[in-house]
Amino acid sequence: MLRAAIVGGGFMGVTHTEALRRLNIPVVGMLGMDAEESDRFAQRMKIPTAYANLEALVSDPQVDVVHLCTPNYLHYSMAKTLLEAGKHVLIEKPLANTSQEGAELVGLARRHRRMGAVNYNLRFYPLNQEARARIQAGQVGEPRILHAEYCQDWLFLPTDWNWRLVPEEGGALRVVGDIGTHVMDMLTWLTGLEIVEVMADLATFIPLRKKPRRAVETFASKLVAAADTEDVEIHTEDFAGILLRFNNGARGVITLSQINAGRKNAFWWEINGSEGSLFWHQEQPNQLWMGYRQKPNEILLKDPALMQPHTRRYAAYPGGHAEGYPDTFVRHFADFYAYLEKGDYNQPPTFPTLEDGRRELVLCEAILQSVHTQSWVKVRY
Ligand SMILES: NC(=O)c1ccc[n+]([C@@H]2O[C@H](COP(=O)([O-])OP(=O)(O)OC[C@H]3O[C@@H](n4cnc5c(N)ncnc54)[C@H](O)[C@@H]3O)[C@@H](O)[C@H]2O)c1
Repeated sequence: MLRAAIVGGGFMGVTHTEALRRLNIPVVGMLGMDAEESDRFAQRMKIPTAYANLEALVSDPQVDVVHLCTPNYLHYSMAKTLLEAGKHVLIEKPLANTSQEGAELVGLARRHRRMGAVNYNLRFYPLNQEARARIQAGQVGEPRILHAEYCQDWLFLPTDWNWRLVPEEGGALRVVGDIGTHVMDMLTWLTGLEIVEVMADLATFIPLRKKPRRAVETFASKLVAAADTEDVEIHTEDFAGILLRFNNGARGVITLSQINAGRKNAFWWEINGSEGSLFWHQEQPNQLWMGYRQKPNEILLKDPALMQPHTRRYAAYPGGHAEGYPDTFVRHFADFYAYLEKGDYNQPPTFPTLEDGRRELVLCEAILQSVHTQSWVKVRY
């Protein structure tokens, strides 16, 4: 039985712990920003060990797998230490801040015979698994147009604050790194296509924000605005528009924003091919729309009995019993831990790998280069 530890006690720390518990995977330890956060989180989530620092976690022989749920800038250094110490890692996206760091982690995992996964959990909505299977079976034919939006409003006000706004903590790109990587991962994973060229336009509409003098958890500023703040200039983007070219000649368009009033977690994708279309929306994740020219369109309401035999296991509940965001973590972790238990690393993984995370970082860098040069940029993986 593999045992897990969690690093980071915010939004993701809780979500990962709950998902592991649904799989009966013991969560044996917790590391927060400091000993106080470790203690508080361990007590709240009933985790036996609260670590005072990373060294204490690393030297705990009980821990086999570490879930990194910290701000982005910590992923690389922590994952490096953990892989070198022989732990498996499940790292929140984006994998690191640069593709160079990503490549190092891929190499370290290989050298130390340890596995890593990057949490592109949105792949694990049952109907995204189903969509991928249908695309592989030829239902849309050759993909021609891939478009997607991921828009939110949790950073709509100048008083909204999060570490993601600061490049030193979140990375040089904000909406692209935070939610755009989910979108690019989804489009390429669904179709098996590769993005070969990008052209991007970014904008920062709120150049000055009020930063609370004490740290706030993700989304917390939507509930209570901090009283004690300081003014901070913002240099990361609120909006991104990205054009894509794929290796089969398909074209893509992505819109990303964290300042669209009324849009909460509005990620949708649509793929139009030579035979038909598919559309899915994260806020109605139990429906898959299928578009046709020569017969009426269809909507598949999630029901394992109506899914392809090999995607059924991604639906944990019977038809019509809605599944949502927390379930995606459970299904991802189920695949990752089953792979670790088998121990045959020659098998193709069914979860997003460190290599997938590295390729996303290469894409992010190409996007940044396109912004600087105001031109199309070829992606060199
Ligand atoms: N896959 C998804 O759907 C999804 C959703 C949200 C966030 N994320 C990713 O998860 C990660 C965490 O995001 P979040 O929204 O949970 O952030 P958060 O701010 O809610 O939580 C981060 C936690 O990390 C802790 N922390 C900070 N420095 C630390 C250190 N040195 N050691 C240990 N803990 C430390 C903070 O105290 C806080 O508890 C990010 O990489 C983010 O991109 C992924």
